[in-house]
Amino acid sequence: MKKILIDCDPGIDDALALALAHGSPELDVVGVTTVGGNVELEHTTDNALRLHDYYGMDVPVARGAGRPLVRELRTAGDVHGNTGLGGVVLPEPKSELSGRHAVDFIIDTLAAAPGEISLVAVGPLTNIALALRKEPRIVEWVREFVIMGGSYTRGNTNPAAEFNILADPEGAAVAFNASWRTVMIGLDLTYQARANAAVRERFAGLGRLESELITPCLDFYGSHISYQDEGPAIHDACAVAYVIDPGLFETVPARVDVETQGRFTSGMTVTDFRAPADVHNADVATTLDSEGFWDLVTDAYRNVAAG
Ligand code: BDR
Ligand code: CA
Repeated sequence: MKKILIDCDPGIDDALALALAHGSPELDVVGVTTVGGNVELEHTTDNALRLHDYYGMDVPVARGAGRPLVRELRTAGDVHGNTGLGGVVLPEPKSELSGRHAVDFIIDTLAAAPGEISLVAVGPLTNIALALRKEPRIVEWVREFVIMGGSYTRGNTNPAAEFNILADPEGAAVAFNASWRTVMIGLDLTYQARANAAVRERFAGLGRLESELITPCLDFYGSHISYQDEGPAIHDACAVAYVIDPGLFETVPARVDVETQGRFTSGMTVTDFRAPADVHNADVATTLDSEGFWDLVTDAYRNVAAG
């Protein structure tokens, strides 16, 4: 089993990514950390803990940074609803939050198992940047560092920038400039993972997981103006799927730099596929085997639904 630590801002697609991680027989989730992003930290943390209990997880959930390194918090309530899961209200959690800050939890967890844990960040990269600043050796301790964020062709929050990077460009720059290799699962890839009508049919038979969470979440998420064509992109689940089966993805090595100064382009992930190999800092995902991806997701959700 591959160990995975997930830093997230649930968030509808974050919720669907956590279910994939928990339900996958290939993965051992060692912890969940939260960051302010799609909604305020109070809500992303509350959602993470409720999802943890609802899915039947039993791992630490640690609260992290509520604000980006430099900028004001930017949220995406129009996409995820004001509390982050569309209109879905899950039962009160019985579990308690970890007493540790997410940044310390990330550092301590990676330190305890060098070379074993995939660190997957699917929200703004604030906790990751703070962890790198506090303990630079985490770059040596991770098995791999995978993000959902960025793009090499287009943005979603504006023409230049993807939400997670735009929300904390300075944090993202710290993460991309660290001496590890970032696997960038950006919009170019995640727009290939659409929960269209055929995909949603696969979720029939998942009982309460489907009726209480997946369907209402996807109804809300899919009603966003940007998704009405081919169904919503389940961005964050793609980053988890990469850890489960990188064979489903084509990646291309590149140099990625984050624009932090631009008047119209802050948060852009400037991706140079022609840069010399000695300056490459990322493997950029370009192509997804979407059939294989949805097979993984459906099987994992079946496992979660079965308890
Ligand atoms: C990313 O931004 C958030 O709204 C989603 O949860 C995903 O992580 C997509 O741009
Ligand atoms: Ca997210």
